Amino acid sequence: MGTFTKRTHTCGELRASDTGKTVTLNGWVQVRRDLGGVIFIDLRDRYGKTQVVFNPGRNPGAHSIAEGLRSEYVVSVTGLVERRPQGTENPDLQTGEIDIMVERVEVLSKAETPPFQIEEEIDAGEDLRLKYRYLDLRRPPLQEALLMRHQVYQIVHSYFDSLGFIEIETPILMKSTPEGARDYLVPSRIHRGKFYALPQSPQTYKQILMVAGFDRYVQIVKCFRDEDLRADRQPEFTQIDLEMSFVDEEEIWGVVEGLLAEVFREVKGLTIPLPLPRMTYREAMETYGSDKPDVRFGLALTCVNDLVRECGFRVFSDVVTSGGVVAGFVVPGAAGFTRNQMDTLVDYTKSLGAGGLVYCRWTEKGIETAVEKFLGKGLVESIARRMGAVQGDLILLVSDTWRKAYTILGTLRLEMARRQRLIDESLVKLLWVTEFPMFEYDEAEKRYVAMHHPFTSPNPPDADRLETAPDSVRARAYDLVLNGNELAGGSIRIHDSVMQQRVFSLLGIGEQEAKEKFGFLLGAFKYGAPPHGGIAFGFDRLIMLLTGARSIREVMAFPKTASAISLMDDSPGEVDERQLRDLHIRIV
Ligand code: AMO
Repeated sequence: MGTFTKRTHTCGELRASDTGKTVTLNGWVQVRRDLGGVIFIDLRDRYGKTQVVFNPGRNPGAHSIAEGLRSEYVVSVTGLVERRPQGTENPDLQTGEIDIMVERVEVLSKAETPPFQIEEEIDAGEDLRLKYRYLDLRRPPLQEALLMRHQVYQIVHSYFDSLGFIEIETPILMKSTPEGARDYLVPSRIHRGKFYALPQSPQTYKQILMVAGFDRYVQIVKCFRDEDLRADRQPEFTQIDLEMSFVDEEEIWGVVEGLLAEVFREVKGLTIPLPLPRMTYREAMETYGSDKPDVRFGLALTCVNDLVRECGFRVFSDVVTSGGVVAGFVVPGAAGFTRNQMDTLVDYTKSLGAGGLVYCRWTEKGIETAVEKFLGKGLVESIARRMGAVQGDLILLVSDTWRKAYTILGTLRLEMARRQRLIDESLVKLLWVTEFPMFEYDEAEKRYVAMHHPFTSPNPPDADRLETAPDSVRARAYDLVLNGNELAGGSIRIHDSVMQQRVFSLLGIGEQEAKEKFGFLLGAFKYGAPPHGGIAFGFDRLIMLLTGARSIREVMAFPKTASAISLMDDSPGEVDERQLRDLHIRIV
């Protein structure tokens, strides 16, 4: 194989104004149509498609080659740009005003029949698409997603540069940093029995960079977490990671909001009204049953504790006296749900961990509920009134501990919104959730874990209660939420080694362990640490939400499956005995 005729134009470029030019295009055969001897081919590259025409009368040689062309062959065609006859233009194609009358054609590469069509919409299974990722990546939705990803990289680099941020790379081979997931480990050949960890995030490094005086750091960075995967999680993913010195929450939020406004303006042509709304964690849980509330629709929760505290229905009153919650929401116009539909809903709610679901249907006959005999007509009416129900509505109520009741209601709220089609997909609803608790109690491990991470600063007024009432301590942590998805999370950090040690102790990390794991950070804090804070965006999630893709796999070039396999190159794979020996590893 030697030279080939190089393109003069791309397949998305030619217009009526190019009529009369002799041009060369290089690209892939999309389809071949044989119409009464004349052969039409749509030639495709990432810029678009152009129709090329092989006329046996005009050029029998080229025509006979064209007869052998199949989908996905790579060809070079040279010919004359002609205006299409009136009535045959294709307004759906940017190059739809013209054809190329082919004079010369070269086959640059043949192709086997692809296992699926290279088209906008296909029904091939995801495993097949992942195995042949190079073919899937030829499809317009994936091409568009990766182009948008590129566009957002450029916005991020220039936005942060304009604000004086410095891009600094942090190590991929590092000491483990806890972000709550399991680490990916890399064995050391030189240091027998020792391991590097791949970063779950550059958290400790970026804090050290603040101690080093860099003041404003940003990085688009790969992170690695060995955790259970879902549609919005991958074992390796990308963050836009930033950290700033001498700042408070307001300043960080301002920087982040500016970035979002620019991304949405440039990529979607949308104006995001700033500043973004804010909601405390408690408010989010008690109104939406979620720390990442989807506020594109209502169905807000209402607590009725005060109404049912003294009632004779012990499922309600016992929960209230023991510090729990009786709360629920109204589904407008859903009083007509059948008995069957309601049974399914009760089962669904139980599957979420609820003891049960109390419901009231307000029909023309009045408010009907199985618990009327326990609550009494008057109380049922008071509850309905408190919750803002009217005739035609369905009221749903759950009673449980604070966290469980609200979490169950949050899931139920989303489910009902989906069933009742209450979500306007065209809306973009961003908000900050603030004042997260410092700690969560891990029932399985019987200990407190950091809700964000162990470097997060407690709210100063709450810090006195760290040891005495850790549950009540709020953190200077915040999440950015977009349409019910956690897009970014961050915090103001601890910058004092004594406070850091106190928090470590509460998390069950003793002085010795802290020294071994984070001695470098505690050490750094002893040499002049500025107050600092930051945040990290899930970059893939951002692109997923911007493109409307269903999964972050659709916006990554080479993603892994839900079981962390790369089907294309078959990783993880086995390694040979020799490699293992070098690493001092034996498989048992
Ligand atoms: P956090 O753990 O909240 O914070 O992560 C920040 C953001 O990263 C995204 N994300 C993921 N995306 C894809 N796959 C995953 N497995 C995955 N895990 C997380 C989410 C999340 O909001 N160091 C802190 C940030 C800080 O405090 O500055 C951190 O990593 O969108």
